[in-house]
Amino acid sequence: MEFSEHLDELMICRLDSTKKEVEPCTVVIFGASGDLTARKLIPAFFHLFQDKVAPDPIRIIGVARREKDHESWREELWEACCRFSRTQPVERQDWEKFAQNIFYCQGDYGSDFATFERLKSMVGEAEDERLRNNILFYLATKPSQFLDVTAHLDESGLLLRDPDPPFWRRVVVEKPIGHDLASASALNQGLTKHAHEKQIYRIDHYLGKETVQNILMFRFSNSVFEQLWNRQAIDHVQITVSEDMGVGGRGGYYEEAGALRDMVQNHLLQVLALVAMEPPVSLEAESIRDEKVKALRSIRPLSLAPIETQVVRGQYVGGKVHGEKRIAYRDEDRVAEDSNVETYVGMKLYIDNWRWSNAPFYLRTGKNMKAKCSEVRIQFRSTPNVLFAAQCGTKLDNNALTLRLQPNEGISLRFNGKIPGSTMQIRPVRMDFRYDSEFGAYTPEAYERLLLEAMAGDATLFIRGDEVEAAWSIVDSIREGWSDQPLTEREFYKAGSWGPDAADDLTARQGHNWREPEGGK
Ligand code: BG6
Repeated sequence: MEFSEHLDELMICRLDSTKKEVEPCTVVIFGASGDLTARKLIPAFFHLFQDKVAPDPIRIIGVARREKDHESWREELWEACCRFSRTQPVERQDWEKFAQNIFYCQGDYGSDFATFERLKSMVGEAEDERLRNNILFYLATKPSQFLDVTAHLDESGLLLRDPDPPFWRRVVVEKPIGHDLASASALNQGLTKHAHEKQIYRIDHYLGKETVQNILMFRFSNSVFEQLWNRQAIDHVQITVSEDMGVGGRGGYYEEAGALRDMVQNHLLQVLALVAMEPPVSLEAESIRDEKVKALRSIRPLSLAPIETQVVRGQYVGGKVHGEKRIAYRDEDRVAEDSNVETYVGMKLYIDNWRWSNAPFYLRTGKNMKAKCSEVRIQFRSTPNVLFAAQCGTKLDNNALTLRLQPNEGISLRFNGKIPGSTMQIRPVRMDFRYDSEFGAYTPEAYERLLLEAMAGDATLFIRGDEVEAAWSIVDSIREGWSDQPLTEREFYKAGSWGPDAADDLTARQGHNWREPEGGK
């Protein structure tokens, strides 16, 4: 056997030995008739079932108010799967096998306690004691119902704080967790009255993305980069999460949320925390989460300088994205015609700790931008450039490392090289790693991974209460800084652009500029 083959074997053995054991369980979905259930949850469970990684056996019970029976709910979900499954066409035979595990419990879970009694007796019908005792409660409900449902689960004896080992009960909640620090803390306190913090799984679907998980692996398993991951080597970091769609049918929600609450509070700050955190003492969920919270808490308070020098908001006006006409945000359905809600946020943050002191982190996110793209660009410091200035000019491109989170998932390193020939000319070139060419088209949806982890009881990819609160305190200080000021002319941007002009001032003040993302499409 070749040495390299032997190495491959060793790696594969190591990975296999860490495969998660997922015990048979019942999954109860509150909000069974909703969009999330149809678009994401059921297709994800179905794929896990097809890939033979779902618990065996598994039972899924949907709870919702609408009158229907098991069969009609299954048919509804079949249609949803045909539309939203990532593997097309969906095989009816596979579906039939999967659908035998799906049940419907009709009832109002907001106020009617009888629904929980009915649910309890349905859960108790399972013959396998593991299905009766291992239960994942998924709250695909309005956020305002999280607390009531959890309280009812507790009162009905379905959500035991201390189930008999080895059985377990867990609650999964989706963002938004509150709309500011005060409401998030109140919700966290309320939830922990009924369940231990370790039973609560707060989802941020960005953490379910392979490329986001790879940030930790990449940082802490490569000595070349690990040694350079600090202010001495890194000039600044840019995190871009741009979208090429407008708010579509979600105008009503967006008017309440805006880009700051919808994207920055969760996805962008989570990515930032992974890029900036110190090495955890182990790969245990708590160790990783401890370090992420520390990174978030080290962010320099935004109250120390005028907000406009640190954060820029924007709102799209009509334009074209990929040649397609887009209307202005203010013309979208259920949006006020004089709305000041931001569809873009650009910001400059400093992390006041030993590693990052004075190295800016630029973050930006927006709807209806030029391309859909999530990536992290690590911009290294320049060399003294005393050797090549005469021949090549004073400006040499700095090295940059780009983690392309989506699409065109991969990592590239940009460095300078000599253009072949007798003259001394230098230009930047790239080394590129692409997930698809290295690993093939392995593209599980973020929800598949997250559901599996929640059933396996690994909370690493979920957000702890204190992380949510640390992120809200940053967001709150920005909102306070903005107060009720209306948007100014320079804060509007054309759909199909990279954001408002005002965002360029953020980077320009430091002699930087936003870089065109590599992976956008
Ligand atoms: C969601 C936001 O959390 O993330 C949406 O509510 C946004 O507004 C979406 O479109 C983006 O997710 P992704 O995975 O497409 O980058």
